[in-house]
Amino acid sequence: PRVTIVGAGRVGSTLAQRIAEKNLADVVLLDIVAGMPQGLALDLMEARGIELHNRQIIGTNNYADTSNSAIVVITAGFPRKPGMSRDDLLKVNAKIVVAAAKNAIAFSPNAILIVVTNPLDVMTYLAKQATNLPRDRVMGMAGVLDSARFETFVALELGVLPADVKAIVLGSHGDLMVPLPRYATVNGIPVTELLDQATIERMLARTRNGGAEIVELMQTGGAFFAPASAASVMVESILLNQSRLLPVATYLQGEYGLENVVIGVPCRLGCGGIESVLELTLSDGEKAALQASAQSVRQNIHRAQE
Ligand code: NAI
Repeated sequence: PRVTIVGAGRVGSTLAQRIAEKNLADVVLLDIVAGMPQGLALDLMEARGIELHNRQIIGTNNYADTSNSAIVVITAGFPRKPGMSRDDLLKVNAKIVVAAAKNAIAFSPNAILIVVTNPLDVMTYLAKQATNLPRDRVMGMAGVLDSARFETFVALELGVLPADVKAIVLGSHGDLMVPLPRYATVNGIPVTELLDQATIERMLARTRNGGAEIVELMQTGGAFFAPASAASVMVESILLNQSRLLPVATYLQGEYGLENVVIGVPCRLGCGGIESVLELTLSDGEKAALQASAQSVRQNIHRAQE
């Protein structure tokens, strides 16, 4: 199979490396900057003999070269600068994502679209609207990353293996994300048994601020290693038809009492894209948090369309 990545910046190029080196698919890297994706592709091709894989990596500025991709990942657009919120990227990135989605789907009409560009939930909504794809074939990456951040902080606090910590974060990708700490475990043991409430709250706050913490430290752009890992897991579950149950930004059609909006909820990802949406029983507080999250996404969808 072939995966196209639109936007060969830091997230896009790292994702290309992950996909090729996990031997999941051939990769087409597309960017507007002339020569840049071609150079990255050549560099990745030259690593193949050392990394022991035989995947093709093509760099291009032309959508015709992306034809017949099974998956298109959109990472094109601007990342945050220090002091900016994801919503500050709204208008500038909306144009880029809408054009990228339309162009890519014109050459790969059967592709599954994974949006990464921020503000994530709004961009995913606009990509769905622009392409008219069914909801199982348009999704956004955020929850896998936000969950991984929370898991990281729990693992660091307890001194346990990160892979042993499992948690899920729902809602929009931003300050109004909805972590569900009561579902977080270390190999099945609830985190609420292992850590006091104040410590958990501190880690949730750090998770909400996880992207900004890295933007502030780096000063030039944001996180890209963990985001690329998170996107690659979604690509993998689709290509290998693993049906993994992951938090995915999806277009809701009445689930959780919400419709005509995109936010993160647990979804099973397989070869057709989103195979099903899992509706968890939420407490009143969690429901209210999810509603608030959806409401902010709706407002930004309106702003983007003004
Ligand atoms: P970057 O600046 O390194 O890369 C973006 C690339 O997009 C650049 O190479 C640029 O030339 C390209 N580009 C711009 N307009 C384009 C167009 N019209 N067509 C094709 N390519 C175009 O940025 P980075 O760090 O890779 O981040 C990319 C996006 O992903 C940002 O919006 C960032 O906020 C978002 N992001 C989202 C995450 C999530 O959890 N959903 C996590 C990390 C980043």
